[in-house]
Amino acid sequence: CGIVGIIGDKNVQEVLINGLERLEYRGYDSAGIFLLNHEEDNFQLTKEVGRIEALKAKVDFTFPAEVGIGHTRWATHGPATLDNAHPHTSPNGRFVLVHNGVIENYNELRQAYLENTPIQSNTDTEIVVALIENFVENDHLSTQDAFQKALSLIEGSYAFGLIDKENSDVLYAAKNKSPLLVGKGDGFNAITSDAMATIDLTHEYIEIKDKEIIVLKEDAVTITNLQGESVQRDPYVAELDPSDLGKGAYPYYMIKEIDEQPAVLRRLIQTYQDQNGQFVVDDNLKAALQNSDRLYIVACGTSYHAGWVGKNLFEKQINIPTEIHLASEFAYNPPLMSEKPFFIFLSQSGETADSRQALVLVNQLGHPSLTITNVKGSTLSREATYTLLLHAGPEIAVASTKAYTAQITVMAILAAAVGQTQQHGLDLAHELSIAATNMETILAEKDQIKAWVDENLLETPNAFYIGRFLDYYVSMEAALKLKEISYIQTEAFASGELKHGTIALIEEGTPVIAIISQAKVDKHTRGNLEEVKARGAKTCVIATQDFAQPGDQFVLPKTHALLTPLVIAVMVQLIAYYTSLGKGLDVDKPRNLAKSVTVE
Ligand code: G6P
Repeated sequence: CGIVGIIGDKNVQEVLINGLERLEYRGYDSAGIFLLNHEEDNFQLTKEVGRIEALKAKVDFTFPAEVGIGHTRWATHGPATLDNAHPHTSPNGRFVLVHNGVIENYNELRQAYLENTPIQSNTDTEIVVALIENFVENDHLSTQDAFQKALSLIEGSYAFGLIDKENSDVLYAAKNKSPLLVGKGDGFNAITSDAMATIDLTHEYIEIKDKEIIVLKEDAVTITNLQGESVQRDPYVAELDPSDLGKGAYPYYMIKEIDEQPAVLRRLIQTYQDQNGQFVVDDNLKAALQNSDRLYIVACGTSYHAGWVGKNLFEKQINIPTEIHLASEFAYNPPLMSEKPFFIFLSQSGETADSRQALVLVNQLGHPSLTITNVKGSTLSREATYTLLLHAGPEIAVASTKAYTAQITVMAILAAAVGQTQQHGLDLAHELSIAATNMETILAEKDQIKAWVDENLLETPNAFYIGRFLDYYVSMEAALKLKEISYIQTEAFASGELKHGTIALIEEGTPVIAIISQAKVDKHTRGNLEEVKARGAKTCVIATQDFAQPGDQFVLPKTHALLTPLVIAVMVQLIAYYTSLGKGLDVDKPRNLAKSVTVE
């Protein structure tokens, strides 16, 4: 879900539609825009369920708008319908609001203030816009004061864009826990959930802190905190290259992003090396890790899976016990912590609400933390003690690919920088370069992978990935990739565990894909594969060269044992991609999913 708003000298509807298209990658199921000019009642509200394309077809691009807000909605309260789509209008029609996030106390607010007010939608947002109108009409507050009063009563997460139809010279905004930025321009100002949406207009952005009120005019931006004090904040320059945002000759972002992985890996080697070829990070960060007795990795989704690979890197390379936690579990039920914990937040977007909530807790407890993210200036980056960037370039496809391999790479680099791993016999820069080349070898074999997928996966209702140790960790990511974009129910299992229950699910023809790249457990996984084969499974082996056997379907080039997930990831991402493609699905925008989940 996402927000774009603009006031000033621009074709407002064009800015909004282009911006919403840029935010499509975040996932949504309906969209809308509101346009206003100063002549009384001269406004247009357009909404559509489904794609932005359909919305675009309905918008009047000749309407002379001076201010406008646009929104993509990912349903939380109430299904994806026109009524529930944003922008929402207040009961008497004066105010128009867009919202990302979840208002937790909207029922209480409705009972307390809006008992006799008709509400059209099932959304928490409509309650907020009705509240603002109520405070203006009944308490005779100015729009800004009414907005401020509403914010002081609201519990939950939000990014808001608000328009008052009686004043087309102002656009209001506020945020709490959900992302929102001000884009500063010459003759216009904008709000956006992600700089990407307005990067064609401006590279200058102002950060908004939680619970501030922003008043935008075409030539001014004022920031007021909850205490009513005005705040000065300088803009920063967003380092985004608009040309990175296109698909180029690719049919989908996902395949472009899969292809970019060797380049990202090489960029990371360069970025984090000093003139002597040593990996380096900030001295304080290094000391903080060295000083810690236990690392806690906290993340969601694909980032969580990268965390498992990181755990092994930290434990093997720098001998610090490492725990890995799902952010949504950690935030409200944290584990017993060691004396000197250090927290690592993995988040491609740097905006995931579950991870952010965990970081809020860590900050309250006063522990040091690091965010490893692809987005400079993101919320998790700003709020953690340290940040390391993934330098992967914008990741647009909902299914995360290059962020996963970049996260693993950055963790390997961090471990090297902290522990000077060369002394432990691992020349990381060399091994990462080999991994990048090996990725390219796999990328050159797309046709074989596609052919195998077409023959084996397109018709199946379910599938399994199995492996042990690192091969199990990468199986978790492989299964997530396949299920999220092909809708085939796919599960990952530690292969030894299959026989303790899950093997009951194996039927004639069930695809079971084994990953084999680790010494000591390779033979065991092969044994487990025989067990499922004996029960009718259609098996497939993805093995690295040193563990391959005749008859294996895919043999991948030899990669350092700690880094095999980097290379196997490319293989399983391609399996997922070609399955989705073969089934005729929308690869980049799978149903029900959002790229950046800013609700808990
Ligand atoms: C969403 C995305 C996943 C992603 C997860 C965590 O659920 O669909 O692909 O892995 O969020 O996102 P983050 O930006 O925190 O890595």
